[in-house]
Formats: sequence, structure tokens, C-alpha cells
Amino acid sequence: MAQTPFYRLPYGARRDLLAQESHLTIQQLAKIAARQRTADADLIENYLTTYGLPEGVAVHLRVNGKTMAVPMVTEEPSVIAAASNGGRLLTSEQGITTTVERREVMGQIVLSHVPDRTGVKAWLTAHQDEILKVANAVHPSLLGHGGGARSLRIRCIPPHWMSLDLFIDVGEAMGANLVNTICEAVANYLKEHLTVNVLMSILSNYATHSLVTADVAVPVDQLATKTIDGRTVAQRICDASDFAEHDPYRAVTHNKGIMNGVDAVVLAMGNDWRAVESGAHAYASRHGSYQSLSHWWLKDDELHGELTLPLALGFVGGATRVFPLVVINQQIAQITSARELMGVTAAVGLAQNLAALRALVTEGIQHGHMQLQLKSLALSVGATPGEVPAVVGRLRGVTQPTTAQAKAALLAVREVNLKK
Ligand code: MEV
Repeated sequence: MAQTPFYRLPYGARRDLLAQESHLTIQQLAKIAARQRTADADLIENYLTTYGLPEGVAVHLRVNGKTMAVPMVTEEPSVIAAASNGGRLLTSEQGITTTVERREVMGQIVLSHVPDRTGVKAWLTAHQDEILKVANAVHPSLLGHGGGARSLRIRCIPPHWMSLDLFIDVGEAMGANLVNTICEAVANYLKEHLTVNVLMSILSNYATHSLVTADVAVPVDQLATKTIDGRTVAQRICDASDFAEHDPYRAVTHNKGIMNGVDAVVLAMGNDWRAVESGAHAYASRHGSYQSLSHWWLKDDELHGELTLPLALGFVGGATRVFPLVVINQQIAQITSARELMGVTAAVGLAQNLAALRALVTEGIQHGHMQLQLKSLALSVGATPGEVPAVVGRLRGVTQPTTAQAKAALLAVREVNLKK
């Protein structure tokens, strides 16, 4: 008899099968059960359980003259502390200023093996208005909300492809489904009127028409540490910024630090962080080599910083509807639109970057991270929140403590507690 495919099995049968094949213990199954959320079961295929990540709030962040608390979801111990530290350094009247010039999502209709690219290009150019009309007929409600297909671009890509790029204002939505449906409708229109081979129709995550820029100026004195004056710190930050523009090995790590903040906000706000990641790194390579996304320079007595990112974030629809925490997070951050969300996300990225660079060029990154790393090491060996401070206390004197040393510290703490 044919076996029922895994995805067709009822939840319990799937879980039991996995338990049997993977030799899961009763305790492990209890952990899976404890995290199960009925609402998530229909969201993905072969649902097993819900994998939770910690959410915290970055404070002291001043963006466009408004001080805000920004929810962030991350597993990395130092990220939220760094965002808040960076924010604390950037508290001029306006704080970080953000600009979003336009917010359009691009869709591509890709034509392949086009024998007469000049002829097809001429036809597409002559029928631009008609194509935009077809696109806008797909979702008339989008036009009603002030959105819609705005323009198009035709690119010939050697040796034999063409890309018809549609730029669509998707309002407050993330817009992936919307753009894909519009592109498919335009593809059908092309197939009806031209003899072309449509290879695919899909949005592009390289969101060059949804760029956001975060700018800031900070008096150099604010950057001083206990042992280094502010101007020297600022000069060293500029040097680090220049280096990341010249060395891709450093640029990747520099940008990873920025994405620590960006991804954590994107996740908290229910957006697609894979889209943001791939777009950001393509943008970092736009000059032909991979470079830093941010730039820092000295002018008079101020350190200036700028970060530009492609960030086509949505404020409504998609996962924002599915996860109740998203609406709460939007409320905590007092964000009321997609453009505002784009600005705040870039601002967090810039603050995160400043905090990392300042630590790197002064006392080194490990110093500030140590306390948080010890905490997460203690938790990883099974310390309860009540035991963590004592375990951390025992590990503090150890250089690069290992898991075995953390386990030993936990045992010692438990012995002491038993005797109390
Ligand atoms: C660690 O997650 C991020 C940093 O490596 C970023 C950087 O080096 O700029 C500290």
C-alpha cells in the first residue's frame, strides 16, 4: 500500500514519526509541545513547533527629532545593548535624520531568446501606456489608495534576454503578491501581442527604488572614552570606515554589524529579512566590488555618518497580519507608516554601526561583550535566570571560559544553594 506523504499526515502522526526516526525523548517532545501554537500550524508546511527568539527594546534612539523605543528580535547577546549605546551617542536635537525619496517595488518580466531585441524594445516603448494600463487594471483598489504601476524600464541583457521592469507603488504593503500578480498579467498581455518567450515574472528584491538614507552628526567630544579623547576616537572611526570601503573582508563584517540592527527590527516588524539581506548586499556591491554600506567622516568638530540601504518594508499585510506582536511592536515604536519604518530601521543600523566601530577602535569588542556572553554561556549550560548572576560571577575571572567550565561553575553554584 502506498505510504501517505509526510505533509498529508495529521499533526500527531507527523510528530510521532519524527520522534521515532530521530529518537526524541519524552522531555524533548514536551519541549516541542510547549512551544506549539495552533495559529502557526497553517502558516507553513509540515509544521512541528514554534521556534521563539528573544525580543527586546533599544532605547535612547532619536530619529527625526523623536525619541523612541524600538523593538528588536535577535539571539545575539550584545545587539540591543549596542543599538542603545549607539543611540545614546546620537542625541542631537534631530538625532538621526532619515530620508525616503520614493517607495516603489520593482517587478520583472523576463523574456528569453529574443531574436529581434531592437524590434521588441521598440514595440514595448510604443506600448508603454497600454502596458501600465494592463498593470493597473489588476488591482484597481491600489489606484484608489493612491498607488499603482508608475513607470517601466526595458533592459537588454546579453546574450539573449530582455527584462521589462515595472515600478509599482504598493502603498503601505510589502507588496510581493501584488507585484507578482501584476507581472503575470502583463506577461499574458505580452504573450497575446508578441511572439516572445516569457521566462518568468517575479518581483525583484533589489529594491533600488525604495532607498532610505540615515544621516547623523555627532560632536567629537561625545565619543571620548575613559582613556582616549573624542577627536582621536572620531579619527579612528573614519579610518575604520575608509578601510571598510577598500577591503571586502572587513566590509562584510562592517555590514554584518549594520544588519545586526536592521534584521532585528525587520523581524520584530514582521517583514521579510531575507529580501532585505539580499538587497542590501547587492547594493553594497553596486560599484563593482563589495564595500561598506555606511560612511563616516570628520567635519570641523563633528563626526558625520551616513547609511543608505534598499529597504522595501511593509507596514500592513503579509506576516504583519499573522503575528499579533507586530502590531504591538509598531505601537511601541510609534511607527504609523511604511516610510517611517524604513527610516527607523536604517537609523538603528547606523547607531549599531557607530557603537561597533567605537568599541572596535578603542577598547576592543570583547570587553563590552563579555558580560553578555557570560550570561548566554550560563544560560546555555542550563542555569536558571535566578542562577545566572552567580554563575557569571564565577566565570568573570576566567579568560575565554569553556562550556565545561561553565557547567562546573553551575554545579558549584547549585551546591552552595543546596547548603543554604
Ligand atoms: C558582531 O556581531 C558585529 C561586529 O563584528 C561588527 C563590526 O565588526 O563592525 C562587531
